[in-house]
Amino acid sequence: MNVYEVRKSIRTFQEKELSSVDLGKISSYLNDSGNFIGPFGNQFKFNLVIEKKTQAEQKIGTYGLIKNAQGYILGSSNTDTKSLFDYAFVFENIVLYLTQLNIGTCWLAGRFRKHHAISHLTLEEGQIIPAITPFGYTAEKPRLKERLAKKILKVNTRLPENKLFFYQSFDTPLERKAPEFQKALHLLRIAPSAKNKQSWRLLFNRDFTKVHFFILSSLADNELYMCEPEYLDIGVAYNHFKAGLDSDGISGKLSINNPAISTPEKYKYITTWTRD
Ligand SMILES: Cc1cc2nc3c(=O)[nH]c(=O)nc-3n(C[C@H](O)[C@H](O)[C@H](O)COP(=O)(O)O)c2cc1C
Repeated sequence: MNVYEVRKSIRTFQEKELSSVDLGKISSYLNDSGNFIGPFGNQFKFNLVIEKKTQAEQKIGTYGLIKNAQGYILGSSNTDTKSLFDYAFVFENIVLYLTQLNIGTCWLAGRFRKHHAISHLTLEEGQIIPAITPFGYTAEKPRLKERLAKKILKVNTRLPENKLFFYQSFDTPLERKAPEFQKALHLLRIAPSAKNKQSWRLLFNRDFTKVHFFILSSLADNELYMCEPEYLDIGVAYNHFKAGLDSDGISGKLSINNPAISTPEKYKYITTWTRD
């Protein structure tokens, strides 16, 4: 199973409790601190909260959009760009690990009850809970409410490549110029993103030794979120991009060195991948 291909957001779960074997696997994964160091070196801890009551009684759950979650996984982060990037990178690995176990998840950065979630963690000064995920076995059929939400978000579609990937300037779409990166770009493009906005914009340099990562910031003033969710989207996107590169044996490193290229409005530079 290619977990990157099969993952999708699940908001309706079965009432069935998780087996002790599955719970044990998740706990072991969460207890291994080696799983939670991001590309910029930030380290995280994650808590598993079991909350297997009916929807009405669920505390963290998200105003009715999530049903029958058997529990939640949550962690905390500082609010600087690198920390949010790292949080998203490692959190996506949790989501993919659960996908591999056939357990459903859904990134939630907006619609969860923040004060209930906070009560399960000890947040240090200035820290936030950027995103959490419910988990459970996927229900056979999503509820009408979920189906409608998915239709509005157009969850099964992604922007065309020529709106996401560019070559030397944001006036020139990358098109087929970087065949070596095809897999990495495909995996990135199917990544989850807040409101399915796919805020990632990638700019390749002349000889394809550098890829600059930008975000198109559009949810900045949305009070639902504890941080601008695009700063999470980009960490998730990089996770997928790196998986594609790893499987094709292409290695590189991240650094922050703004190329000072003219960008469309609302684009923010995040990081640069440089090939080894
Ligand atoms: C950073 C981030 C935040 C998200 N926040 C929410 C949320 O608050 N509520 C929700 O229902 N889905 C949320 N999602 C899930 C997206 O809506 C979903 O990934 C997108 O619509 C694409 O659908 P898919 O995950 O099924 O491919 C979030 C996803 C990401 C990556």
